[in-house]
Amino acid sequence: MPVITDPQEFHVDDVFVDLRFLGPHPLFLKCEAFNFAGSVKLRPAEEMVAAAERSGRLRPGSVLIESSSGNLGVALAMIAASRGYRFVCVADPRCNPVTRRIMEALGADVHVVTEPDPVGGFVGARIAYVRGLCAGDDRYVWLDQYTNEANWLAHYHQTAPAIAKSFPAVDVVFVGAGTTGTLMGCARYFRENRPEVRIVAVDAHGSVTFGGPAGPRLIPGLGMGVRPPLLDESLIDDVRVVSEAETIRTCRRLAGHGFLFGGSTGTVVSGALQWLAERDRRSELVAVAIAPDLGERYLDSVYGLPGGERRGQVGQHGMLDDLGRRQLAVEAHREPDRGE
Ligand SMILES: Cc1ncc(COP(=O)(O)O)c(C=O)c1O
Repeated sequence: MPVITDPQEFHVDDVFVDLRFLGPHPLFLKCEAFNFAGSVKLRPAEEMVAAAERSGRLRPGSVLIESSSGNLGVALAMIAASRGYRFVCVADPRCNPVTRRIMEALGADVHVVTEPDPVGGFVGARIAYVRGLCAGDDRYVWLDQYTNEANWLAHYHQTAPAIAKSFPAVDVVFVGAGTTGTLMGCARYFRENRPEVRIVAVDAHGSVTFGGPAGPRLIPGLGMGVRPPLLDESLIDDVRVVSEAETIRTCRRLAGHGFLFGGSTGTVVSGALQWLAERDRRSELVAVAIAPDLGERYLDSVYGLPGGERRGQVGQHGMLDDLGRRQLAVEAHREPDRGE
């Protein structure tokens, strides 16, 4: 019976969904949402805060600041509340309104940049904003998830060993790529401990991470407008890039079986199913994919399109406005795109 005093003490490491209801491949989905922050980002948040405290950079009176599309922001808001720090989260219009409200309920100040940087996109604009605030006040401590080694180390110490322990016979691991903290932590762990395990990165269309052209992306979590500094491509065996329409279709397929996952889970599962259909025709490989969060934060986006869309409702903070929703709705109803 876990009895805790701080919310970050509670983690669930061993819940996997058997996805054989989606196809013939032994594909198991590691669920990272069952903690008080509701996502995989609790792990890097904890590890980055602990490292900053150990180094003396973060101390009583410091103000934590971070650029986040939401989930890291929620995790940091929770830890900041529990440890007595102020927290400022710099988000962009793709941040789900409910995610923003969760951060605010936990006592965080949320600043939303409204214009993307012409070169670096929204992430570039968020980082420039953070830099500006830090330059003006030395109480700010920016953990910088994009370059912080503790980001990938959290997954090297926790996420990857948990997969290896539950699935000693795993052959391939599918990991979504945002900052690439999850990807790099898992890739390094398996390279060092089980080098025969293949690591496949899954990214969103419109992300430049693996060299594709920049394009609009409406679902937060995966993809970057600038190359992620943590990424070392030599540690990855393969990459799959998935459209947002395909992501939505897969999320809805999962929901049709009672599993309401977040948008990036739809992307990772889509990429995994595509890769396995091409590379494992006999369904011999044991595969694990990582599900970063659940679907409640995406009711107005991934799950809010025809069928459930309430017309004329524009996200409170400008995310997924009507145009964006209609674009996604049209794409999601086209035939599935194959061979991406
Ligand atoms: C829902 C969701 N999925 C995936 C990711 C990507 O994880 P990482 O930054 O470790 O690449 C994030 C990161 O914020 C996320 O919030």
